[in-house]
Amino acid sequence: MPRKVLSVVGARPQFVKAALVSDAMRLRGLRECLIHTGQHYDHEMSQIFFNELGLRAPDRNLGVGSQSHAGQVAAMLVGIEAAILQEKPDIALVFGDTNSTLAGALAAAKLGIPLAHVEAGLRSFNRAMPEELNRVLTDHASDILFCPTQNAVTQLAREAITRGVHFVGDTMYDATLRFSRQDDTMPAILARLGLTSGRYLALTLHRPGNVDVPERLTAILETLADCDTSVVFPVHPRTMGKIEALPDAGRWLRGHGALQLIKPLGYQDMLALVGQAHCLLTDSGGLQKEAYFLRTPCITLRGETEWTETVDEGWNVLVDAEPERILAALKHRFPETPPPPHYGDGRASRLIADILATTDL
Ligand code: UD1
Repeated sequence: MPRKVLSVVGARPQFVKAALVSDAMRLRGLRECLIHTGQHYDHEMSQIFFNELGLRAPDRNLGVGSQSHAGQVAAMLVGIEAAILQEKPDIALVFGDTNSTLAGALAAAKLGIPLAHVEAGLRSFNRAMPEELNRVLTDHASDILFCPTQNAVTQLAREAITRGVHFVGDTMYDATLRFSRQDDTMPAILARLGLTSGRYLALTLHRPGNVDVPERLTAILETLADCDTSVVFPVHPRTMGKIEALPDAGRWLRGHGALQLIKPLGYQDMLALVGQAHCLLTDSGGLQKEAYFLRTPCITLRGETEWTETVDEGWNVLVDAEPERILAALKHRFPETPPPPHYGDGRASRLIADILATTDL
């Protein structure tokens, strides 16, 4: 009987990471039970990704939704434990660094189910980020660790994790190669938003550190509203909630200065928007890499990054959301040669499926 893998997804970036792995597992003859925790539930944060990426419908949706961190993880733990007990998988598979990752990891580890982690070994060294805690705990509970970069392998070794560690490359790179349509003459999303390739900035913001402090959020918005190029801003629902709570919310919601607020975009539209932008400004982890894959300079509105290769190669600058540093970075000269490949060769998903099918358990 082929092995059965119980995979856990829940938040937007995980749908991207899981899609090609799920496909590769099917082709490798593995059986999969896909659990959606329900952490992200809005159509444009969840279902649109299943549709676009061809990710199979989840076998179970736990419908956990938005709660406090403890409430969210606790509800997921109970649901995932029940699923594991019923499905009796050979391996549990988790992705990235969200609360859904941690819940899947804990539920599997407590039941003694071999645990595999996709995107192991990443560190921001900032324990104030919930994701950092999720990554560290998940890696230390995992039996099979799939690293997207050689730096991640080295970091795990520093933490005395060497068994079960595999450098496979980045599944998000696989997905970008499969789904990006940068050669299209004029991506439809640009036409829809009235944009010219290379003549606008793309912005995303959702980290609590940036959006939960009204003064900091306002400072970022003020700085970018004053740009002389259009700044297209697909707004994450948590950020929209914070903008709506600002005293001068109406000003931002109407689209102040250069800022153009839009709803969150689907995967391919987002790739097109980033790929054609003059520059991306973001506090997302995944988008820093996607910009790198698509050869778009990135300005990261954080003080540190897990994706240090993008900075070392000169394609990403960290500005910690400080207005003067944002403005200086907008004048920065980025490299003219293509970014070197640090994220594998586009076969990470296949390698993961191979290892899951054959590794000793
Ligand atoms: C989560 C991940 C983060 C990832 C991000 C991508 C954790 C700790 N964080 O952050 O690593 O980069 O997803 O988007 O797991 N909301 C909606 N509709 C939705 C989803 C969320 O309105 O479909 C709103 C709710 O107000 C919710 C808030 O967003 O309270 C936060 O959602 P949550 O899933 O807790 O974390 P994110 O900030 O999205």
